[in-house]
Amino acid sequence: MNEHNPQGRALITGASSGIGATYAERLAQRGYDLILAARDPGRLEAVAQRLRRDTGVAVDVLSADLTAAADLERVVQRLRDDGRISMLVNNAGIAASGPVVGADPRETAAMIALNTLAPTQLALAAASAFAARGEGSIINIASVLALAPELFNGVYGATKAYVLNFSLSLQQELAARGVRVQVVLPGVTRTELWSRSGTDIASLPAEMVMDVDEMVDAALAGFDLGETVTIPSLPDASEWEALTNLRRSLAPRLSLAHAAPRYARVAADLVER
Ligand SMILES: NC(=O)c1ccc[n+]([C@@H]2O[C@H](COP(=O)([O-])OP(=O)(O)OC[C@H]3O[C@@H](n4cnc5c(N)ncnc54)[C@H](OP(=O)(O)O)[C@@H]3O)[C@@H](O)[C@H]2O)c1
Repeated sequence: MNEHNPQGRALITGASSGIGATYAERLAQRGYDLILAARDPGRLEAVAQRLRRDTGVAVDVLSADLTAAADLERVVQRLRDDGRISMLVNNAGIAASGPVVGADPRETAAMIALNTLAPTQLALAAASAFAARGEGSIINIASVLALAPELFNGVYGATKAYVLNFSLSLQQELAARGVRVQVVLPGVTRTELWSRSGTDIASLPAEMVMDVDEMVDAALAGFDLGETVTIPSLPDASEWEALTNLRRSLAPRLSLAHAAPRYARVAADLVER
């Protein structure tokens, strides 16, 4: 950890705009030095200069296309080599609106790479480094669409379900080793993601859209509360707990030596015929 800065450093992907840029501002205000990653070096440097000026923290920028293997490897290497990094915010992501059937296969592949492969590789590099030091935090940005796949582009929702499941499993694996994992499930948040993916955010019901400052402040409040899963919009957290308990209660019956009677009966009928 940085001997001059007890908070250490936070590496934030997708920090040039929206949720990532807001995390950068809030974490700088909390005293973290920062490493900001995204593709556009000009926008990254603009965020970095503002935060250096306003907060006095040290800010590095890493221009990287996280869908490109060599660029991703550079960021992974930074997580392995920089012992002052104490937090990873896995935030970079893209969405696509519309049906998945007939979508451009290259765009679909890029979305899967950015939303799943990149955060996995980064989280695993951070997890190894943090576990070796016995401390550190990984914040993964998923989406409420992990829980509502019927509402939006199915590949996007599936990438976010991956992030949710991966995070739950990683938290369980790392908890005893001093490493925290939080997964954040934002609802619709006012950022460029919508225009970039071809949806006019003004066409969405205003009561569904949260400002990015409020979303990130709620997510960080969830982090401070020690939550593993933070759903900024959900008024009653016990609903999520009930769903989790129901899901977990299925576990003893999900893998058994014999098929369920409803299938066994049908199979027996077929044999008799
Ligand atoms: N906005 C919402 O309603 C919403 C809801 C739920 C979850 N989320 C999630 O929140 C995260 C942040 O999205 P946002 O809403 O803040 O959108 P955003 O403003 O469009 O920000 C996306 C960030 O990712 C970076 N990025 C895009 N492609 C990249 C690539 N190939 N390599 C590296 N960086 C890349 C962008 O910078 P460059 O273009 O410079 O690379 C930008 O900094 C995403 O994971 C998104 O899925 C958003």
